[in-house]
Amino acid sequence: MADYDVKELDVLVIGAGGAGLRAAIESASLGARTGVVCKSLLGKAHTVMAEGGIAAAMGNVWAEDNWKIHFRDTMRGGKMLNNWRMAQLHAQEAPDRVFELEEWGAAFDRTPDGRILQRDFGGHRYARLAHVGDRTGLEMIRTLQYKAIYLDDLEVFMECTVLRLLVEGGRVTGAIAYWRETGRFVVFRAKATVLATGGIGKAFRFTSASWEYTGDGHALALWAGADMLDMEFVQFHPTGMIWPPSARGILVTEGVRGDGGVLRNSEGRRFMFDYIPPFFAAETADNEAEADRWYDDKRNRRPPELLPRDEVARAINAEVKAGRGSPHGGVFLDIASRRSAEYIERRLPSMYEQFLELADVDITKEPMEVGPTCHYMMGGVRVEPDTCAATVPGLYAAGEVAGGMHGSNRLGGNSLGDLLVFGRRAGAAAAEFARSAGGLGPLDEAQVARICADALQPFANEQGESPYELHRELQQTMQDLVGIIRTESELAEARDRLVGLAARVPGLYAEGNRQFNPGWHLAIDLRAMVAVSTCITLSALERRESRGGHTRDDYPKPDPEYFGKHNHITRLEEDGTVSVHAEPLPEMPPELAELFEEATVS
Ligand code: FUM
Repeated sequence: MADYDVKELDVLVIGAGGAGLRAAIESASLGARTGVVCKSLLGKAHTVMAEGGIAAAMGNVWAEDNWKIHFRDTMRGGKMLNNWRMAQLHAQEAPDRVFELEEWGAAFDRTPDGRILQRDFGGHRYARLAHVGDRTGLEMIRTLQYKAIYLDDLEVFMECTVLRLLVEGGRVTGAIAYWRETGRFVVFRAKATVLATGGIGKAFRFTSASWEYTGDGHALALWAGADMLDMEFVQFHPTGMIWPPSARGILVTEGVRGDGGVLRNSEGRRFMFDYIPPFFAAETADNEAEADRWYDDKRNRRPPELLPRDEVARAINAEVKAGRGSPHGGVFLDIASRRSAEYIERRLPSMYEQFLELADVDITKEPMEVGPTCHYMMGGVRVEPDTCAATVPGLYAAGEVAGGMHGSNRLGGNSLGDLLVFGRRAGAAAAEFARSAGGLGPLDEAQVARICADALQPFANEQGESPYELHRELQQTMQDLVGIIRTESELAEARDRLVGLAARVPGLYAEGNRQFNPGWHLAIDLRAMVAVSTCITLSALERRESRGGHTRDDYPKPDPEYFGKHNHITRLEEDGTVSVHAEPLPEMPPELAELFEEATVS
């Protein structure tokens, strides 16, 4: 019989980024005994990589702004594949969530008359991002963390990796995990479980994500039988660092462009004017004079550098491919020639320090070299919009691990709002489910024993291979074959390679013992990364069109008649295979549909 600790909870929250902490605060405030499990230390989460701000139509800078315009921008940014109800709830509730953070101590930048300052970002009609310099995600985590640790009913379990969700009688009843420090197992018995694990960046070679981002929540949900939604949509943020190699992928906030930075190619040309897609032509300036006036007068058309991220990332990719890239294979992001040094250091202090320290570049004097980096997963657990309930009872998902909110492409700044709005909703619904669920029921010891034995298998595989080599192959496969530009033949090759990688995972070898063993941790994380990469690839093969974060060279246009009207549902079948099928989008009610008739909201 496996030896393990047991914790009994009403609500288990897996993940301690913005969504997890906000869910836990809500659940504990409603009186549910709540536990938050995180892989690293409290306060370290990918949320800090949303640097530029929280999108919320508060109208502090432009009184004309309101939730309807934010809703419309979000849907258009996602190329209309978003779950309309999630986009509506988000646009309506984000302002209250920002005010709540302010009440809890977040030190936002201010307008001259003392209100929360809002900055421009891609795809947003008005300056809408509440921010703290270029450290907004960090301030958000700090604020939520301080709120959380003083709540009586909330306990945090750090450096703990979840292996599997426990499923009994078709319902999720908690999870089994291990303490990273000791390798000892722990069973969290819970009446309701909230996934808030973030994304999958570490499946790709160049990413803004740190080591925790291994798709755990996506895989846990899939393995527990939940439906996954639109897994093909992966966001490449247009501006990551590309030089030096040790810094490659680190985020360069969109706030640089929001605050006036422009993109140039090796010829010094602002090339984004050459890449304005018909979908956004009416609202995008096609000349420098008009683009520059927009920063002071939102009645003009927006600069093309502030097109949604998918458009900008593709344009950079095309410039590099055409031989007009920067020396290290990116393009130039120039704010030095457009704003004063004082302005840059005040508005973008982290970018200033990051480039000075890591690349020896003074961004107040020289341009930055940037290129796309894997940043965000739009696809995720299929949820019921108002409650964040997954398709398996007892399971909830919020934030990046949930699908639907952002459609095929997320607008910058909509992530932090999403974490707060849906974190709160998931926490409330999970607490309510736990309240009405009765007792914890018996623990299936055999299930626990199976999961523990499986987790320890890498120690027994003495003839097995290194997880590091397999991880390298996975990242290269996803980067090269399932990246920004995709084709049928490359996706098929990725699918075949993933079959091979999946077959090698059970044979991975972990040298040494269970006490803080990074090789063992990676062998376990790879199970999730390979499973999620398989879902992404299979779903991408099925979507024979280009839309948002999914560009098919062999189907370069969107297909409004079929794929534009369908989400993709991915599932693990009983025989262990992953299936993908298309389902019609939920119908948008007429009062929202009419917002897309041009004159109604601007
Ligand atoms: O560019 C950024 O600051 C990232 C923001 C986001 O992903 O929302």
